[in-house]
Amino acid sequence: MAEVALQDVGKSFGATRAVGGLDLTVGDGEFVVLLGPTGAGKTTTLRLVAGLERADTGRILIDGTDVTALPPAARNVAFVFQQYSLYPHYSVYDNMAFPLRAPGQNLSKDDIDRHVHETAKLLRIEAKLQNRATQLSGGEMQRVAIGRALVRQPTIFLMDEPLSSLDAKLREDLRVELKRIQRDLGATILYVTHDQLEAMTLADRIGVLSQGELVQIDTPRAIYETPRNIYVARRLGSPQINILDAGLLAIAGVPAGAAKIGARPEDVLLRCDGGAAATVRAIEHLGVETLVLLEVGEGLVHALLGGAAPFAVGDRTTIKIRERAAIAFDAQGDRIPPPPDRAREAAYGT
Ligand SMILES: Nc1ncnc2c1ncn2[C@@H]1O[C@H](COP(=O)(O)OP(=O)(O)O)[C@@H](O)[C@H]1O
Ligand SMILES: [Mg+2]
Repeated sequence: MAEVALQDVGKSFGATRAVGGLDLTVGDGEFVVLLGPTGAGKTTTLRLVAGLERADTGRILIDGTDVTALPPAARNVAFVFQQYSLYPHYSVYDNMAFPLRAPGQNLSKDDIDRHVHETAKLLRIEAKLQNRATQLSGGEMQRVAIGRALVRQPTIFLMDEPLSSLDAKLREDLRVELKRIQRDLGATILYVTHDQLEAMTLADRIGVLSQGELVQIDTPRAIYETPRNIYVARRLGSPQINILDAGLLAIAGVPAGAAKIGARPEDVLLRCDGGAAATVRAIEHLGVETLVLLEVGEGLVHALLGGAAPFAVGDRTTIKIRERAAIAFDAQGDRIPPPPDRAREAAYGT
């Protein structure tokens, strides 16, 4: 596998700047997920790395070699698209063997056979090798599409929302498998999605994209706990973080200059001593957890409780934010780091 580096890469389509000055390195064997809404520039970024688009500015390096001007075929990257792009009239076997039979590969029949069987085993689709692509379920088709990328043994995998057309259960299964395969192969993967759960579960590092720019890149945990601004805070976590006026709840240790306070629903405590008065406005049972919507003064706050909520709509209760869990933002929406002693305490868990 290989390392890929984007240096100040920019790409516009007419007046639309799809990607603006992107700096990003995906390390050898690393799984990086770019997270962003539709139109953030995710697909364009992958197409630039693959060589399907030419960058207006900047350079793209694969293992230190400048590939910016090289055609796709010279880059040895594999692209898995959002929609399975299989040849419907071919068998699974032939779909997977296809890239190995391309001119220039010079592989023997036995070599091709071995590669296809090894990959099918890895993806657990060996039993389906003789099926036609049209005889597969959506999840199986996407596995074959991933398999077709794997057999080529590319240096880098580019994956464009490969699970987004699958139903929730399949998405979950394939997510787990993709992570396992990546670990087994030590694969370098640049994966893009708008799904925060995929980003959180798959990524070694998440890059949060907004309008073609990388707002923050870090481990899932660091991004969740110390988002750079409100935009990033809202992109991770389900149910979404509460963004409250700083004066809404009396919170100890809020730094000067805080205009907004971010509080994850799991950090909102109810029925607590010294909390503010609140009224229950709605209750949603999510299974193992319950989401409670509360009215506090002029604001609304979501609280996520483990188990069933001992409340009914209209009940009065008290509310506060778990100590040290509040995230402060200034008037521009940028995070204000806690004063040093609080940061140290948080790091040591005291
Ligand atoms: N071939 C193209 N021609 C014109 N505009 C494009 C083209 N490809 C992408 N764009 C524009 O660039 C922006 C980023 O698109 P894209 O990379 O597809 O975003 P994402 O994959 O995050 O949804 C969007 O505004 C989109 O409309
Ligand atoms: Mg896209």
